[in-house]
Amino acid sequence: MPHASPSRRVFLTGTAAAAGASVLLPSTAWATTSTTAPAAPRISDPFTLGVASGDPWPDGVVLWTRLAPEPLALDGRGGMPDRDITVEWQVAADEGFRKIAQSGRSVARPESGHSVHVELSGLRPGTDYFYRFRAEGEISPEGRTRTAPRLGSSPERFAFAFASCQNRPDGHYTAYAHMAREDLDLVAFLGDYIYEGPAQGSLGRGHLPVSEIFSLADYRVRHAQYRSDPDLQAAHAAFPWALVFDDHEVENNWASDISEPDTEPDQDRAVFLERRARAFQVYYEHMPLRREQRPKGPDMRVYRRLRFGDLMDFYMLDTRQYRDDQVPDEQRDDPDRTILGAEQRKWLFRRTAGRTGRWNVLAQQVFFSQRDTVSGPGTNFSDDAWDDYLVERDAVRDHLTEAGTRNPVVITGDVHASYVSDIKADFNDAASRTVGTELVGTSISSGGDGVEQNPGDLVQLAENPHIKYINRRRGYVRNVVTRDAWTATYRTVDFVTRPGAPLVDRATFTIEDGHPGVVSA
Ligand SMILES: [Fe+2]
Repeated sequence: MPHASPSRRVFLTGTAAAAGASVLLPSTAWATTSTTAPAAPRISDPFTLGVASGDPWPDGVVLWTRLAPEPLALDGRGGMPDRDITVEWQVAADEGFRKIAQSGRSVARPESGHSVHVELSGLRPGTDYFYRFRAEGEISPEGRTRTAPRLGSSPERFAFAFASCQNRPDGHYTAYAHMAREDLDLVAFLGDYIYEGPAQGSLGRGHLPVSEIFSLADYRVRHAQYRSDPDLQAAHAAFPWALVFDDHEVENNWASDISEPDTEPDQDRAVFLERRARAFQVYYEHMPLRREQRPKGPDMRVYRRLRFGDLMDFYMLDTRQYRDDQVPDEQRDDPDRTILGAEQRKWLFRRTAGRTGRWNVLAQQVFFSQRDTVSGPGTNFSDDAWDDYLVERDAVRDHLTEAGTRNPVVITGDVHASYVSDIKADFNDAASRTVGTELVGTSISSGGDGVEQNPGDLVQLAENPHIKYINRRRGYVRNVVTRDAWTATYRTVDFVTRPGAPLVDRATFTIEDGHPGVVSA
C-alpha cells in the first residue's frame, strides 16, 4: 500500500495540525513548539521534497530528507536561510507513531543544501518501520522502510523492483505510482536519476534550470525539480532504495575524468573533475546513502554490498567513475581496458568468491551481454557498454563461473528498453554453456511513450541468440526471489506523455536455482 501520499501532509503540518497531533498521539506526540531560537521567521512547509530511506542493513537504514520550502529557487538554496536548522526525527513500529523505536536530532546545514542523513543502527532485522521528521514546528510526510533480514537467517522470499532512466521532460512517472502500491523489500535504482541537459519537451515538465547544469546551484535545482514529483516521492516513501549513478547524474557518457567530446570548458580534465565533484556532492545531498558514500572532492565510493540473509547479495557497482574512455570497436579487445577499475574489480572478485548468498546480483548501469546491432557477418557494438571493455567483461563472467558464485544475475539500466539475456560461456557460440542471466530494465520515462519493438530489435534477436526478449515500453521490473526460483515480471505502461496509464504485465521470466538462464513463464 502507498504510504506518505502528499495529501497526508495536509493534516500533519501547520500550527493547527501540530496542536491536533497532541490529541491524536497522546504519549509520543510532537506537541511542543520547536526548540530552535525563536528570533528567525518561521519556515513554512520545508518538506516539499518528501522523505526517503536507503541501504538497509539488518540493524538499520539511512533516513533522508532535505529542507526546501522553495525547491526551485534558482540560487539552489531551496528558500532556506543561511543557517543551521535542527531537525528532529522519529522511527516507530507503527503507522500512528505510538510505539516509538528511536528518536533523535540532526542538523541540516546550508553547506549540505540543508539535507539530512540519519544513519540508524540498533533496529530489529527484517522489520517494517515508519519514520518522519520535524523542523521549525513542521512535520514531514511519513515514510515506511524495512530493515534487512539477519545475516545468518534464511529468508523464504525477497521482493524487489529495479528501475532506471527518468528523464523528466520525456514523461510522467506513472510507473512509480504503480510501484508504490507493491509490497517490496527494496528498490534498486541503476542510474540516470536526473538528466543534465537543457531539454524542455512538450509536456510541461521542462528542465529547470533551462540550460545544461554546471554549478552547485544548477545541480541542486535540477535534483529538487525531479524530487518534487509526487509519484517519485511516493515510491521513495514506501520502500528503502539502493541507488547507483550512471552518466547523466554528471554529464552524458563521461568516463573517469573525461567529459564527452563537446565545446564545453570541461574538455579540460581538471575542469571536468570540478564539475564531477559538484555533481557528486549534490547527488549525495539528495540520496539516502551512508556516510561511506559521502564524496570526497571528485571521488565518491558508491560500489558496495548489501546482504539479505543468506538469500540475496547485491553488489552495487560503479561502471562510470573508474572506466577507461570509450573507444571504437577495433580497440575494444585491448586486454588492459577496464570498466570497473582495478580496486573495484578486486573487491568484486573477492566478495563473489567467498561465502555468498544463494542469489548474487550485480546491480549496475550498462549492458553486460554481447549485443551486435547489425545483421550479417559485420558487427557493431555499443561503445558505452561492457562490449567496449570486452576482455574485462569476459573476465568477470569467467570469474563467476570459476569461483562457483551461486546464481549470478546481472541487472542493468541505461538502454531504455527491456531485455532478457542468457550470459554465455562464449557469446559467439550459441551452443556454449549458459553461466548466468542478465535482466535489463526499461526506463521510467526516458524516450517517451515507447513502442513494443522497433525493426532493429528483430536484427538484435537474430544476431544475438542469447537475447531472449526485447520490449520498448516504459516501466520497471518486479522480482520475487525465493530459495528455488527468481521470478521477474516486466511491468510496463503504454504511455507516459499523459498521466494515468494502467499497469500491464508485459512478460514474466523465471530463473531456477542452479540453472542459469531464463525460462518464459
Ligand atoms: Fe538514460
